[in-house]
Amino acid sequence: MSKPIRFNAFEMNCVAHQSPGLWRHPRDRSRAYNRLDYWLDLARILERGLFDGLFLADVLGVYDVYGGNGAAALQHATQIPVNDPLLLVPAMAAVTRHLGFGVTVNLSYEPPYGFARRMSTLDHLTEGRIGWNIVTGYLDSAARGAGKDRQTAHDDRYAIAEDYMAAVYKLWEGSWADDAVVADAEAGVFTVPERVRKVQHDGPHFRIDALHLSEPSPQRTPVLYQAGTSPAGLGFAARHAECVFISGPSRKVIASRVAAIRQAAARIGRDPASILIFTLLTVIVAPSDEEARAKLADYRRYADHEGALTLMSGWTGVDFSQLDPDAIVEHVENEAGRSALENITRADPDRRWTVREVAEHVAIGGIGPLVVGSPARVADELEAWVDETGIDGFNLAFAVRPETFRDVADLLVPELQRRGRYKTAYAEGALRQKLFGGSARLSESHTAADYRQLWQALETA
Ligand SMILES: Cc1cc2nc3c(=O)[nH]c(=O)nc-3n(C[C@H](O)[C@H](O)[C@H](O)COP(=O)(O)O)c2cc1C
Repeated sequence: MSKPIRFNAFEMNCVAHQSPGLWRHPRDRSRAYNRLDYWLDLARILERGLFDGLFLADVLGVYDVYGGNGAAALQHATQIPVNDPLLLVPAMAAVTRHLGFGVTVNLSYEPPYGFARRMSTLDHLTEGRIGWNIVTGYLDSAARGAGKDRQTAHDDRYAIAEDYMAAVYKLWEGSWADDAVVADAEAGVFTVPERVRKVQHDGPHFRIDALHLSEPSPQRTPVLYQAGTSPAGLGFAARHAECVFISGPSRKVIASRVAAIRQAAARIGRDPASILIFTLLTVIVAPSDEEARAKLADYRRYADHEGALTLMSGWTGVDFSQLDPDAIVEHVENEAGRSALENITRADPDRRWTVREVAEHVAIGGIGPLVVGSPARVADELEAWVDETGIDGFNLAFAVRPETFRDVADLLVPELQRRGRYKTAYAEGALRQKLFGGSARLSESHTAADYRQLWQALETA
């Protein structure tokens, strides 16, 4: 049977996420990003469409590479103002039962101890529906906000992330035994002290000598998402990620990324098919092809090319304001993310991009492709993407919010269901169980399971 297609919604607690300028569209609700009613409506739409998750991106800094300052980002609201993603989750969890929440937290600027507790809290409050998109950042402005001169070098960020992961795994997996909390009112014992262990971590970057503060949550470790595809990023994904987000403009580029991720996992003995891979894509769907094309033409009237280049400059570390609009974009090495520039310079030798083409492409849905048409046409395209690249699903960006997601839920999902390519009900259980079946906890073969021995050893002592 053909592989089912999975959807995540790609969102951010800001005005212009991947479609700069579209906040000006009369039907767009981006201005309400700082109001709960927008997020509650969105969560209900996504659950109606049986989306696996709402993926909330986040950046801590300002996109100030374009023009050398933050003026363009502020003017066009390109991911600034930006609010904290985690605080949206409990309210959305309260109006849904199944939708997962993949929240982005940058580990470069926050010690593991408090962060691990925040995620445990969210896993409790969502009854096991939380995921973490592990990022290390790409903006020097974030580093300056956190008291450093510039961000740590690209590969060193991944090395620090390794130590961070060991520390949070110990907190989530190794501090509290499953039966530590007995809540025995008669005996006056809430927690059996002997069943809770201090985490002792003495790594190259982080030290902990403390108990985890939260009792075990349904998943303990949140579902782990990651999004880097440089050689260092691939190694990290292979060791840690349960789901990987990728982006690229064409099937050719994506197919090679998927193969690289699965090979990296196989090399360290993980089942390559056990990693779910989602690629960024934007769907403009309407009852007929003609109406969908008209919708896109209407959206394009609001697209903001300077905003798009502001985003692209931040992702790549290259100041696009200095380049001739008709110049071909060339590859350079720097300390920002690597994959964004690869996408348009080296990933496909047959396709070179001018600055103008980049601006036009990125202005609606970011670097991912746009798929436009009737439900049947879009479903054909999406099936071809999955079948030809080996991805498991899509991280869907919006053009107009929440209209893009409503169209997907109401028009595209029924078409995919008719074809047997999309679920007709959620699986029960925690987010990890909905995605992978099995247990709510990380599998025994995952590297985090090593840290369970801390209290397992204790129980048998
Ligand atoms: C779909 C997608 C979403 C991402 N979301 C975020 C994000 O929300 N915050 C962030 O700091 N980085 C985000 N990134 C950037 C990655 O974490 C990573 O820095 C980038 O892909 C470059 O990694 P690499 O140099 O290893 O390829 C995202 C990347 C992709 C492909």
